[in-house]
Amino acid sequence: MKDPLRTRLCESLGIEYPIVSFTHCKDVAAAVINAGAFAVLGQTQSTPDEIAANIQWLRERVGDKPFGVDLVFPASVPSLGTPEELIAQIPAAQREYTEDIKRRHRIPAPKKTPELYELGWVNKEIPQKQLEVVLDEKVPVVASGLGNPGFFVEAAHERGMQVWGLVGKPRQAKRELEAGVDAVVAQGIDAAGHTGSIGTFSIVPQVVAVAGDRPVIAAGGVTTGRHLAGAIALGASGVWTGTVWLPCRESDVEMRMKERILEATAEDTSFSNCVSGFTMRTLKSQWHAEWARPEAPPPAPAPYQLFLFAEVKQSALDWDIPEFMTEAAGQGVNFVTSMKPARQIVMDMVEEAYAVFDEITGEEETS
Ligand SMILES: Cc1cc2nc3c(=O)[nH]c(=O)nc-3n(C[C@H](O)[C@H](O)[C@H](O)COP(=O)(O)O)c2cc1C
Repeated sequence: MKDPLRTRLCESLGIEYPIVSFTHCKDVAAAVINAGAFAVLGQTQSTPDEIAANIQWLRERVGDKPFGVDLVFPASVPSLGTPEELIAQIPAAQREYTEDIKRRHRIPAPKKTPELYELGWVNKEIPQKQLEVVLDEKVPVVASGLGNPGFFVEAAHERGMQVWGLVGKPRQAKRELEAGVDAVVAQGIDAAGHTGSIGTFSIVPQVVAVAGDRPVIAAGGVTTGRHLAGAIALGASGVWTGTVWLPCRESDVEMRMKERILEATAEDTSFSNCVSGFTMRTLKSQWHAEWARPEAPPPAPAPYQLFLFAEVKQSALDWDIPEFMTEAAGQGVNFVTSMKPARQIVMDMVEEAYAVFDEITGEEETS
């Protein structure tokens, strides 16, 4: 039997295992890449100079093994505007409701100002500057987490780079494939972070049906080898994963948040637009409960809701108010129960996936 994990994605990248780690943490990315899988470094929150330095740091640790960088290009945010200008435009109802939340919960003003690049996608100008660096550096893969990356496909291809698009709807996949992306990440509502409303089990085969011979990478709720085997069975060429890396040994996520993630179940996550204004899956918090109250106004559109939450989040960090802390986390969080090294996560997933294939075909375990 053909090795089910030697997929088109492995061939196109020259990697051993069809597992993609989405991570903001360079140490996690380096460990995953050196374990034979692939990592895409989330750089939405970094300045162009930081992005250049991070790329160099990673190159020094992984040699010529490939890796990716993720940016976001949302279509529906203002073209320009400093955070101060945008903050001044926050609608009154949501601003007043946030003040009410802060009063009722005695949340002091933050000690630090949430940084501009924490809010890296609040206008269309910032992602363009970030993209310039990634193109200059000829990073092997650039992924767009939000928005159609079609406008830079040609520039990327001229530099020998691949472009991937994250999608939550089949029609987005079609649009991005028509625009020339090299692979599509089909992301279900189970996923951590910004996501659409279709489940992983439904979106993946729908995107596979339109992708032709271009790899489809399944995302959303993937935390085990059984999920990896399931994704391959759905027609995907690999998996794109986020939550599973948050509490790993190398991860720079705060220890207290790692512990919450290790304890969390799928029901401790919430799909809501109260964090950023776009629908997003995160761990439930008092912030979520406040915006679910009958008297609450609907959350403000992106990026305005993000400004409201960013300030409360900064206060929660500065003054240690855990009930107002949250983190993006997917429904596969149930299976994330111990703090393993990243290499171990890769190996466990691969081993379990092979065991599942053997279970299905009735063969002895050969791996
Ligand atoms: C803490 C965290 C932050 C994330 N931030 C981004 C981001 O900036 N850009 C992006 O494209 N995806 C982001 N995501 C979503 C991931 O790319 C990925 O699609 C998702 O985690 C997959 O679902 P899973 O967490 O169930 O594996 C984030 C995920 C997590 C866990």
